[in-house]
Amino acid sequence: MEDNQLYSLLDSMSLKEKIGQLIQLSGDFFSTANLSIGPVEKLGISPEFVKLAGSALNVVGFENVKHVQDKQMENQPHHIPMLFMSDVIYGYKTIFPIPLGFSSSWNPHLVEKAFECAADEASASGVQVAFAPMIDVVHDARWGRVLESLGEDPFLTSTFAKTMIKGLQNNLPDKKGLVACFKHFAAYGAVEGGREYNSVDLSLSNLFQNYLPPYKAAVDAGAKMAMTSLTTLNGIPSTADKWLLTDILRKRWGFDGTIISDYASIQEIIRHGFAEDNEDAAFKALNAGVDIDMKSPVYANGLEKLVTNGKLDIEKINDAVLRVLRLKNDLGLFENPYFGASSTREKTSLLTSRKRALSRRLAEESIVLLKNKNNALPLSTEENMVLIGPYADNHALNGMWAIHGSKTDTVSILQGIQKFVPNIPTEKGTDLRRDSSLLAGLGFLSEQEIKRMVSSEKENHHNLMQAIKISQKSDTIILTLGEETYEAGEAGSKTNLELPENQIHLINELSKLGKKIILIIIAGRPLALENVVDKVDAILYCWFPGSEGGNAIANLLFGCINPSGRLTMSFPRVSAQEPLYYNHLATGRPQDLAKGRFVSKYIDAPANPLYPFGYGLSYGSVNYLNLKIDKEVFSKDSTIHVTVKLINDSDFDTTEVVQLYIHDKVAEITQPVQRLIDFKKVELKHDQELTVHFNISSNQLTFFDNRGNEKLESGLFDIICGTNGKQHLTTTVRLK
Ligand code: BGC
Repeated sequence: MEDNQLYSLLDSMSLKEKIGQLIQLSGDFFSTANLSIGPVEKLGISPEFVKLAGSALNVVGFENVKHVQDKQMENQPHHIPMLFMSDVIYGYKTIFPIPLGFSSSWNPHLVEKAFECAADEASASGVQVAFAPMIDVVHDARWGRVLESLGEDPFLTSTFAKTMIKGLQNNLPDKKGLVACFKHFAAYGAVEGGREYNSVDLSLSNLFQNYLPPYKAAVDAGAKMAMTSLTTLNGIPSTADKWLLTDILRKRWGFDGTIISDYASIQEIIRHGFAEDNEDAAFKALNAGVDIDMKSPVYANGLEKLVTNGKLDIEKINDAVLRVLRLKNDLGLFENPYFGASSTREKTSLLTSRKRALSRRLAEESIVLLKNKNNALPLSTEENMVLIGPYADNHALNGMWAIHGSKTDTVSILQGIQKFVPNIPTEKGTDLRRDSSLLAGLGFLSEQEIKRMVSSEKENHHNLMQAIKISQKSDTIILTLGEETYEAGEAGSKTNLELPENQIHLINELSKLGKKIILIIIAGRPLALENVVDKVDAILYCWFPGSEGGNAIANLLFGCINPSGRLTMSFPRVSAQEPLYYNHLATGRPQDLAKGRFVSKYIDAPANPLYPFGYGLSYGSVNYLNLKIDKEVFSKDSTIHVTVKLINDSDFDTTEVVQLYIHDKVAEITQPVQRLIDFKKVELKHDQELTVHFNISSNQLTFFDNRGNEKLESGLFDIICGTNGKQHLTTTVRLK
């Protein structure tokens, strides 16, 4: 449709029809499956507005989409097609590792390919917009949604944001891509205490420097949609924050796409105490810049009155509607309302072997080897080994936000290992969680499921005895533990990051046998492992690894793949160290300043993490030598050339993530002790030497002041290069 046709369509629409375009409802409103992840409340939306609703939430599958689309278009006076939006967060049917996992690959190119695959599958099934990428920077592992994040670093998150958006949108012209809707604008990842839906309070310099860059990167990468956050930022609900949505996002950054609220977040501004009623909330959200109201009655029941009684200028509504119609038109929905969906594509493009291979590769690159005492790994198939634990023969490896995937399509750890050791003895040993009230509190599991998951005391004792019995006959125990699927993800905040007591008991009992223990952890967040780390010889941290998890884990265990994953979130020793992140400001009394009491630490725990940001081992290790810069003083319009020499003197070919950080030694606002500005993932054959090159320009050295202005100040900068934030070489340069 030409632009002028869009305008005449808009002109011919009634006010009600226009408002309809700004309403998004879930499947239950259209007599199809409801896949809502949020409180289920009666919304009180009239049937008339249901018929006029312009978009659908999480209605997927070609037949469902066609059914709803046909009916809606028939019902609407101008037969305007609906938009179908869905949470395609890390895969549709082929599930990739969770984002906190795949960010540990430090491989944005591979992630782009993974998102192309996800878009290919989901578009075949009728989805047009993905509520992804989630690019909230996170500092607190208590928050369940760290699962969906790319970790604690703004530069790395921005890098992935760009490639995830490209991956989703690359194939839009062929109708095999998805519109990317980045979320949650802004700074949802900084909820106080890591408690879900809690408030966010940040200084402007912190907001601009650490939290906003990924969203800005998303705009620059061409994302066509943005989603607001459920939270307040400095006292203002993000969904009604005109400064955020209009002044920053639209005016300062030039975003001209569509803005959608998060699930019911417009209605929730009333509960935040920022609006009196639906009408007031509708006025504030629309005025702030929100185009579409996701799953709340506010626009449906508030906007019409506001216009008719002259409180709201119709032009505000016209602008929002035009943005929605434009998006529909950009996708060609007026000509083909099903976009790329067809039953043929749906049959041929889901879970193909190529997509599975990509999922496996990404899982292999995501898994982080945390410990490998005396080269306990890789295993030889000749070893006499057993496989123990609640994740041994378990297909639930997808994690909470894989809402369209199925565990029946997932390769279990047992299946993966059986390809190397067909007759490996296996026992569960214990349940994932023994506390059924906690499992019920997760809010997803039925009573029956919980009953199946929690064995009786007697069975549990029997399971433990069986595990001990078969382990006694072995030399090596592969022990699989971790979090239950719904312990992490949305509304999965928790205060205790340690493994549950029953799992620790299993480790303790097995460690008494004096065998080699390889611990495999499946989890959606960093866990506090200090109390178990000395009981085992090796730890592979596998996140929720997705459809090919079992194969990926086995390939690493048996050395077909050398681990190369590096953490993108700091791992605490104990839960109460949270929030914990590497790019913090310097204290006047750092922990290592002096012995004794009066330094910045806890009396019962050190301040530093058990495993720092950027950390991860490989089989064999790489030495860093000769960090060099081509000049010691440089001007604002020149670049510094940095080189570092790597030597792989191990017996393994390896992949190394070379990390480059800076520290601005003196500035108007004190700067982080370290800040990642670049990285390179390189391969080294055994015995190979390699020189790695970086260029640093002055725009990588800027910071934000407390009015949100970007600044570049002359002075000294440390250049820090190494295998992680803690093991590195340092040199210093002066900016003139
Ligand atoms: C989440 C969003 C999600 C939306 C739709 C909300 O609860 O915060 O991330 O996209 O639901 O499912």
